[in-house]
Amino acid sequence: MGTDRFRWIQPAELLEQSRLMRFRPEMRPILLNYFGLAPGMDVLEVGCGPDTMASYLAEGIAPGTVTGLDLDEEFIHRATAKAKQRGISNVSFVVGNAYHLPFGDSHFDAAISYTGIGVLTDPVVAVQEMLRVCRPGGAISIAEAVTGPRGIHFFGIDSVLGEEPFPGAQRYHELMQDIQAAINTTPISDVGSQRWSPPSMFGLLGTLGVTRIRLNAWGYASAPDDERVSTAEREQWRKAAYRLQRRSLEELQNSYQTRISNEKLAEAITLTDTRFRWLRNNAVYDWEAGVSLVASGIKQWSL
Ligand SMILES: C[S@@+](CC[C@H](N)C(=O)[O-])C[C@H]1O[C@@H](n2cnc3c(N)ncnc32)[C@H](O)[C@@H]1O
Repeated sequence: MGTDRFRWIQPAELLEQSRLMRFRPEMRPILLNYFGLAPGMDVLEVGCGPDTMASYLAEGIAPGTVTGLDLDEEFIHRATAKAKQRGISNVSFVVGNAYHLPFGDSHFDAAISYTGIGVLTDPVVAVQEMLRVCRPGGAISIAEAVTGPRGIHFFGIDSVLGEEPFPGAQRYHELMQDIQAAINTTPISDVGSQRWSPPSMFGLLGTLGVTRIRLNAWGYASAPDDERVSTAEREQWRKAAYRLQRRSLEELQNSYQTRISNEKLAEAITLTDTRFRWLRNNAVYDWEAGVSLVASGIKQWSL
């Protein structure tokens, strides 16, 4: 990894925004069950990012605790500051490596991860570490989004209207598809690309000696015009989506890895501005949906 400080490839804001709909308050009891968690347990979450799930689960297991661990120091600082600001006292965050967890054997009642294992080049070592720090009889759960990093998208009504609702609408969607295809086929150094089919999740836990494995799935959709989303939140989402898209395109312009020409990226940036103006003026929002899988089992007493 060299001496450079580790920085995760996705910005904190992107993770936070995309996880809001996945971790809705009404889903908490169901997800606690899927992850094998109950009040009073001390839980480790590996690859917690800027805190997209740790506090959410912690609120359901008090007086138990959640410790979030991540290799990205900025994520951990951000997560710590947010929890302090929100007054959540049974969650804490540490910088650490999934391959060498800084805890003694059998330290936790449960070790879990959400989209934190599938990104690793060596998931086996990480799950072995999770097993080591979990007490015998404790819960081991790994969860992954199964619909790809970007989920299922409905790219706004402008992508299906026959005629162009704003100049360049069709060109915008063609460009974005090309760019997405190029991103999907660009290898990212130091990041693995595990394919988390249900058999591979069962297989990994099963071969490492986890018993009573269960597999569950939950689906979610993030539509900012969902009536549960307040007007203020909607505007926040729209602004965040716009900033993120622009920033991602600008970053691609500076990236040596991309196979998209800078002319095409510049055109996409201009059309992004046009499109977001049109979306705002017409109160139109992009929708997104996805599914995640949770494989959960029990650490055997003999391990
Ligand atoms: C796809 S993000 C998921 C973050 C969070 N769980 C979520 O779903 O919002 C993957 C996370 O794994 C972390 N990560 C990558 N390699 C790691 C390692 N070796 N040890 C600990 N964390 C790692 C990254 O910093 C990033 O926060």
